[in-house]
Amino acid sequence: MPVLTFANTKGGAGKTTAVLLVATELARLGLRVAVLDADPQRWISCWHQQLGKNCPERLQVVPYVSAANLEREIKRWQPTVDIVLLDLPGARSPLIAQAMGHSDYVLIPAQGSAMDAQGAANVIDLLYYLEDKAGIRIPHSVVLTRINPIITTRALQGVKALLSEKKVHLLSTPIVERAAFRDVFSCGETLYTMDERNVSNLGRAQENAQMLGNEVLERLIRYRMIGMTPAPGHDQAARLVA
Ligand SMILES: Nc1ncnc2c1ncn2[C@@H]1O[C@H](COP(=O)(O)OP(=O)(O)O)[C@@H](O)[C@H]1O
Ligand SMILES: [Mg+2]
Repeated sequence: MPVLTFANTKGGAGKTTAVLLVATELARLGLRVAVLDADPQRWISCWHQQLGKNCPERLQVVPYVSAANLEREIKRWQPTVDIVLLDLPGARSPLIAQAMGHSDYVLIPAQGSAMDAQGAANVIDLLYYLEDKAGIRIPHSVVLTRINPIITTRALQGVKALLSEKKVHLLSTPIVERAAFRDVFSCGETLYTMDERNVSNLGRAQENAQMLGNEVLERLIRYRMIGMTPAPGHDQAARLVA
């Protein structure tokens, strides 16, 4: 089953938040998802622990993944789930190159800023290097994060222009800056367990996450990483591709 890795060598790019949202939405769409937490800071593992019984049934989070056990954990989970998601540490680390070698698809979360774009470019350079030296071509897309829903900044326009010039695929759904996305993370909630009275624009955040989940699933289907006829229990995914 495919391994979808989230990478950007810059910390704070929104990787873990993107992993959390995509994992939750894919599980809601009927896929069995395992998230491997390879960040020593263990953010997503702590989120999962706090979530407890509110965790979507089909979602599992595996803590303490490192260079030493990455391959073993991927092999352990691949047979029993529909997709493995990998959350990497923020900073440049040898683990990134190792993880790329095991990935079927790489998502590169980046804020619309030059520094994040540089962190994204480091990952893209690594992917081109793998293609050049080893003939391994790994599909990849940038997903813009923490985007202001109202204003398009010049920095963001610059990042978009650069991606298009370099012919890097950009997901059409950005992750908007929302209190709900910050709170799911820090309060150990999902967008569907939160109380809408306490979080502004929760409905919009849910809509954003669902569009993102659908777009990622469509890419996985397009790359034939997920079958067109999902197994029983995958009704929503089946409907989505119908
Ligand atoms: N779309 C968003 N809206 C609001 N806050 C966000 C969003 N994405 C990330 N954050 C916040 O930014 C910080 C860094 O995000 P995180 O996902 O941990 O990045 P990374 O994993 O790349 O280091 C966290 O405090 C997180 O809650
Ligand atoms: Mg992180």
